Amino acid sequence: MILHDTFTLSNGVSIPKLGLGTWFIADDKAAQAVCDAVAIGYRHIDTAQAYENERGVGAGLRSCGVPRDELFVTTKLRAEFKTYTASTAAIDGSLRDLGLDHIDLMIIHSPQPWAKFKDGEHFFEGNLEAWRALEDAYKAGKLRAIGVSNFDPVDVDNLLENGSVKPMVNQVLAHVGNTPVSVIAHGRANGVLIEAYSPVAHGAILNEPSIAALAGKYGVSVAQLCIRYCLELGMLPLPKTANPAHLRENAAVDFKIAADDLETLKTAAPIANYGSASHFPVFSGKLDADQR
Ligand SMILES: NC(=O)c1ccc[n+]([C@@H]2O[C@H](COP(=O)([O-])OP(=O)(O)OC[C@H]3O[C@@H](n4cnc5c(N)ncnc54)[C@H](OP(=O)(O)O)[C@@H]3O)[C@@H](O)[C@H]2O)c1
Repeated sequence: MILHDTFTLSNGVSIPKLGLGTWFIADDKAAQAVCDAVAIGYRHIDTAQAYENERGVGAGLRSCGVPRDELFVTTKLRAEFKTYTASTAAIDGSLRDLGLDHIDLMIIHSPQPWAKFKDGEHFFEGNLEAWRALEDAYKAGKLRAIGVSNFDPVDVDNLLENGSVKPMVNQVLAHVGNTPVSVIAHGRANGVLIEAYSPVAHGAILNEPSIAALAGKYGVSVAQLCIRYCLELGMLPLPKTANPAHLRENAAVDFKIAADDLETLKTAAPIANYGSASHFPVFSGKLDADQR
């Protein structure tokens, strides 16, 4: 069962193959969502400083009844923090807000501050500063693994060439209709696990007739097909929901997608419109050529 399966990060740490996304789960609802997910069998929760729900997520992790060492929590360093001092203070802030003495994985949320997302500037120096803060917290035992998010290969190379610890994950936008081929290949070549955020396209793919038809062939939902697709490509999907029925459905993905259908999904048409989410930088159309 997928909830029991793990990937092994390059430093030997095990990470559950399916994680629960918590973007847009409000702080006062997050503890219940985490407890519901854990009761179903989830052991991996993804939050971020920017989601402003670390307190609720931490409360859920501490009250869910499962021992801390059986749970895996990821948080993200705010994209705007590009100095060692600000990043170090923010890491300690996450530990405090989560109410935990260590975090399993902490990642730089974006190479650019959100206002400049994918604008062409790479912030190499600032990311090295933030990375050094993560490295020091990792070496001090506050973080069990460290990584990045929304990094292009050139941004990852900057850390590989100039850092003292290799990034263990890169969390990127990846779903049917948006497969970041070069990022996946670069991750594989460098031992960086690729995590798929928005694996059901923030909900925008749920009513795509061609995808629904293919899901029907397997007797699964569009969400299940999309989550399985990420797993088939070796990525770790992070679907978001606080709905217990969806939590259960998203974890029932123990089926195989045939090779020809996988090819069809790899070349599926891009999502033309992310609807009300289109204004977020990650959905704003500033995607790489190979993601279109
Ligand atoms: N690193 C980054 O920059 C970044 C950016 C975006 C997201 N993320 C992470 O990735 C996670 C997931 O991304 P996301 O929240 O954008 O989108 P997503 O998981 O692709 O889609 C979430 C949407 O799909 C719906 N949904 C989920 N499962 C469903 C099911 N079985 N049936 C029908 N609808 C279903 C949810 O509705 P209900 O809630 O009603 O179930 C919600 O509207 C985030 O929560 C966050 O942890 C990271």
